[in-house]
Amino acid sequence: MDSKLIETLDKLNTNHSLELEEYQLLIENINPDLMKRAAEYAVKYQEQFYGNKVFIRGLVEFTNYCKNDCYYCGIRRGNRECERYRLRTEDIISCAHEGYKLGFRTVVLQGGEDFAYSDEDICDIIRRIKAEHDDMVVTLSIGERDHDSYQAYFDAGADRYLLRHETANPELYTRLHPAEMSFLHRMNCLQDLKNIGYQVGAGFMVQSPGQTARDLAMDLKFIEEFKPDMCGIGPYISHKDTPFAKEESGTLEMTLFLISLLRMIYPQMLIPATTALGTIHPKGREMGIQAGANVVMPNLSPTSVRKMYTLYDNKICTGEEAAECINCLKGRVSFVGYEIVEDAGDRVGFYK
Ligand code: 5AD
Ligand code: FES
Repeated sequence: MDSKLIETLDKLNTNHSLELEEYQLLIENINPDLMKRAAEYAVKYQEQFYGNKVFIRGLVEFTNYCKNDCYYCGIRRGNRECERYRLRTEDIISCAHEGYKLGFRTVVLQGGEDFAYSDEDICDIIRRIKAEHDDMVVTLSIGERDHDSYQAYFDAGADRYLLRHETANPELYTRLHPAEMSFLHRMNCLQDLKNIGYQVGAGFMVQSPGQTARDLAMDLKFIEEFKPDMCGIGPYISHKDTPFAKEESGTLEMTLFLISLLRMIYPQMLIPATTALGTIHPKGREMGIQAGANVVMPNLSPTSVRKMYTLYDNKICTGEEAAECINCLKGRVSFVGYEIVEDAGDRVGFYK
C-alpha cells in the first residue's frame, strides 16, 4: 500500500487530528488494506474505553409528521404517499416502560419536526418517563428548536439530544435542503444543546447525492473540532417518493471506513452501528461494531406504526416486536464477540 496513506493514518492515530487535505486523501484512496488498518486502530480504542460492551438505545418514533421538506427524507412534508401518525403521550410512555422491562436504560424519543406537540407536552412526557423509572436516560431527537425550548426539555429531565448536522459543507447543505432551512441555524442549535449541558449527538449521511470526498473530509474535521458525545452516520439510501429517488445509495465500505476514522479522531465518542447500515447489508451492524461502533439502536415503536416511519426504502425491522429485535441483536452482537449491556451508556468521561 502507498506509504503516504499509511503515514497519514498513523499520524491520525498519534494526533487524533489531520488537515482537511489529509482526511480527503484517506477518503479518496479507500481500499481494503487501509480499511483493515483503520479498523485495527479503531477496535483498539473501542476495547480500551468500552471493552467488548455494546450499549443499546430504544428508539420510539412517536410522530412522522414533519414541517420540513428535506430532499432525501421519506417523511418530508411534500410526500403525499406517506401515511401520517402521532403517538399519544400514554403510548409513548408505555413504549418506554416496555423498553425498561427489556433492559433498556436509554430511550430515544424521535420524530419529525412536529409542532403539534407543544413544549409542555414534550416536558410532560419526559417527566412522566423519569417519574416511572428514575434511572431511564431520556434522549430527544426532534430537530431544530429555539434555545428556550431546549432549556425547558433539559430542565424537565432530558439528558441527551441527537441532531445530525447532515453535512458540514454549507453548500452541500443547501443542495440537500430547501431554502427555508439554514445550515447556520442547525449549527447554532448544536452549540445551544452543548452549552445547555446535554450529551449531544451529531452525525451525517455517507455519500448523500452530490457529496464529494472533500465534503466527507469536512465532516470529519467538524467532528474533530466540535467533539460531540456521539456521532451517528449511515449510508444515504434513496426513498422512492422523494426528489432524490433515483440517486445512488452510499456504500458499506465507505461507512465502515468512516466509522473507524471517527473512532480514531475521538476514541471515547459513542458511535452507533445504525439501522441504515443494517439495511444496506444483512451484517451491516455487526460489521459496524467490528469497525469501531459501540452502540445499537433497536426500535421500540409499536409495530402498527413501524412501516410508516420510513426515511428511506427497505428499512429493516419494521415487522418485528421490540422483544424480537433485542433478542436478535443480542445474538448478532455476541456472534462477533461483543456483549449488549443493561446500562445507560454515557460517553466515557462525561460529567453532568
Ligand atoms: N437515507 C439515509 N439516512 C437518512 N436520514 C434521513 N433520510 C435518510 C435517507 N434517505 C437520516 C438523517 C436524519 C436521520 C434521522 O436519518 O441523517 O438526521
Ligand atoms: Fe430487529 Fe434483528 S434487530 S429483527
